[in-house]
Amino acid sequence: MKGLDCRLRAMASIGWQDLCTILLTSPAGQRILSGGIAVDLRQVMMRAVLPDAMVVDIGLGWIGFKKMQDVSLPMSDRMPSLSPSLLVKAFSPRRLFGFIRGVVGDVKFLMRTYAPAGVFIKYLEGRLIRSRVIARYSDQAEAFTATAAQLSLSTRWFMDNVSHWLDIFDKYRLSDRPGIEALEIGSWEGLSAFFLLNLLPKARITCVDTWEGADEHKAEDSETGPDALSGSEAAFDRNLSRFQGRVEKFKGTSYQYFKSVPDRQRFDLVYVDGSHHCDDVIVDAVKSFEALKVGGLMIFDDYFWFYYPRVIDNPAAAINAFLRLKAGSYRLVSVSQQLVIEKTADRYAS
Ligand SMILES: C[S@@+](CC[C@H](N)C(=O)[O-])C[C@H]1O[C@@H](n2cnc3c(N)ncnc32)[C@H](O)[C@@H]1O
Repeated sequence: MKGLDCRLRAMASIGWQDLCTILLTSPAGQRILSGGIAVDLRQVMMRAVLPDAMVVDIGLGWIGFKKMQDVSLPMSDRMPSLSPSLLVKAFSPRRLFGFIRGVVGDVKFLMRTYAPAGVFIKYLEGRLIRSRVIARYSDQAEAFTATAAQLSLSTRWFMDNVSHWLDIFDKYRLSDRPGIEALEIGSWEGLSAFFLLNLLPKARITCVDTWEGADEHKAEDSETGPDALSGSEAAFDRNLSRFQGRVEKFKGTSYQYFKSVPDRQRFDLVYVDGSHHCDDVIVDAVKSFEALKVGGLMIFDDYFWFYYPRVIDNPAAAINAFLRLKAGSYRLVSVSQQLVIEKTADRYAS
């Protein structure tokens, strides 16, 4: 605790996930200690103490800490109060059981799709920080939902990813990078491209899509339906019309796109969200990685998606095979419903 302005505080509610979250995500060198039973840091710490102070919270033997931000509340509101109902909620067997069951199911899926070891660790870390990330970006996510309300959309799949993308964009300071060049495989009605262009005013994006849908859109029980499918390209054009000059549209399969692009065209960000069959995902992964700059980010959607009856036909199997092939050339950034990597080395670099 050397060099830190610390304050000891009594604990209020108990929330072990949140303590782990803080310990896992706090900047290196500021880590203090973990152990015992943790605290609901969102409740206690976000309302506590002074600007720029470091805080040590002690809860039934565990110690956590966080740099305080919220000083807008009166001190009385920032003081924790021990609430039996919060204790009961945090220790609710049903909640704990649900969490464990979810994790066990996901871990089994990762094993069956041959995920590399590092993925398991990132996945667990992601599970612990998920609610915190959602809470941190809830205002921005809400503002984006309001902006997107003007769009022609039959589905809003991308909305679930907004907090996650905001978090990554912040961490990698994408808004400070001039002239981001992005590639998107699979654009549908343009919601994800709209998000990117809206958030990064200087970015440009190449959108690749057949606008004929993927297997799941063409299936009889598809949630999208034939009208949405036949109207997806027109909706894309309408939704992105305000970004003229910043969107390049390629109509065709990703395979056709990669065959046609100028040699060595490079991107800062690639979003892989086209066909989800493993045969296509592996091609998209390898070719997109080749087109990614060192330091660039690649985001795979639907990592835990389980649609094809044979588990190895789903995206995770291809993504995991790709991760094994490219070990040493990327850094794993996060693992959740989306898997994100940062490219660290290029095969063509001399
Ligand atoms: C899940 S949607 C994309 C959603 C979009 N990224 C969003 O978040 O709003 C998948 C899209 O991939 C397209 N697609 C399917 N197979 C493809 C392929 N082989 N090459 C390019 N696009 C493909 C489909 O037409 C569909 O529009």
